[in-house]
Amino acid sequence: MNPSAPRLLLAIESSCDETAAAVVREDRTVLSSIIASQHELHLDWGGVVPEIASRAHVRRILPVISAALQQADCTTDQLTAVAVTTEPGLVGSLLVGLTAAKTIALTLNIPLITVNHVEAHIYACSMGHDTPIYPGIGFVVSGGHTNLYDCRSASDCRLIGGTTDDAAGEAFDKAARILGLPYPGGPSIQQAAATGNPDRFRMPRPLLHSGKLDFSFSGLKTAVLYAARGVPGPNQLSSTPPELVPDLAAGFQAAAIEVMVEKCRQAVRLLKYSRLCVGGGVAANGPFRQALSTMCRKERIELFIAPPELCTDNAAMAAVAWELLAAGRTASLDADVLPGLVRPDFGRSRNKK
Ligand code: KG4
Ligand code: ZN
Repeated sequence: MNPSAPRLLLAIESSCDETAAAVVREDRTVLSSIIASQHELHLDWGGVVPEIASRAHVRRILPVISAALQQADCTTDQLTAVAVTTEPGLVGSLLVGLTAAKTIALTLNIPLITVNHVEAHIYACSMGHDTPIYPGIGFVVSGGHTNLYDCRSASDCRLIGGTTDDAAGEAFDKAARILGLPYPGGPSIQQAAATGNPDRFRMPRPLLHSGKLDFSFSGLKTAVLYAARGVPGPNQLSSTPPELVPDLAAGFQAAAIEVMVEKCRQAVRLLKYSRLCVGGGVAANGPFRQALSTMCRKERIELFIAPPELCTDNAAMAAVAWELLAAGRTASLDADVLPGLVRPDFGRSRNKK
């Protein structure tokens, strides 16, 4: 390899229902980012079916990696390292990415770096910015997480709050299902809400002033169900009348946004930080981004939100692996997946050498 050639990272992501690969230069320039979404495969079930997801990853992983290398105009012998998401996520899905990454690391004799998906969602906020995003509060809002972190560095984030039941994205997906809108629910709700009146159906704001950094979305989802179809009993409707959908979507979205924005404000104040980083699929929501930026301007908080294409699952955000490589935190070829929910100290217990 030419020693003056730019150092290149191949990143692989397969933790849930997106098969993704990216090539990222050491200066964090994203040379390619390929995402094969499985949304159409899970549409009929209204959520991700793990077995279907794993099988689709197996079929797609090699074409996706080849496409990422091709789009970056790069060959395998130019790669410096390979990074892969190993936690948290669906076990079968994670294993497909890890197996591919290990094979590449072994055959090319390059370092393997294991990435925490949630840590990568926060790191995505730094991409495209020259200013540092750490230390600060990290908020990851996706289909599987609604977590607040005390982020001291890219690889030292400590859980300080989270949901007691559904994740925010899960609530968007379930509310969309109640309203008869397609999966994934977030974009569908956002679109339907655009023409709706958020005040017609006043939805609850669970745990808004609980004094803790916790969330609960299952009551909000039930409130949408009852407002849409009536309370359980012989008169409950089996589907939502279409004319109610925009106002119900707007009411739900306004409640979810108010809770998320307020908890972010409380977390930043509580830990006396001046920075807030927001990532994950729900952070692609336009009105949420708007509400966050209004709150942060008022409170003099520096806001970093990942660009929409880096909010939903992608491999480019695994560029956090460059930070781990610089710290010598490479993984061995017997590394395993850790599918379970995020550990409080997730940023510090991984990639120990
Ligand atoms: O980060 P992500 O792609 O995957 C996980 O790690 O879970 O997040 C997917 C979630 C889904 O629940 C989806 O409905 C939600 O992000 N989402 C949105 C929007 N786009 C995606 N939620 C609200 N508004 C959006 N525009
Ligand atoms: Zn994600």
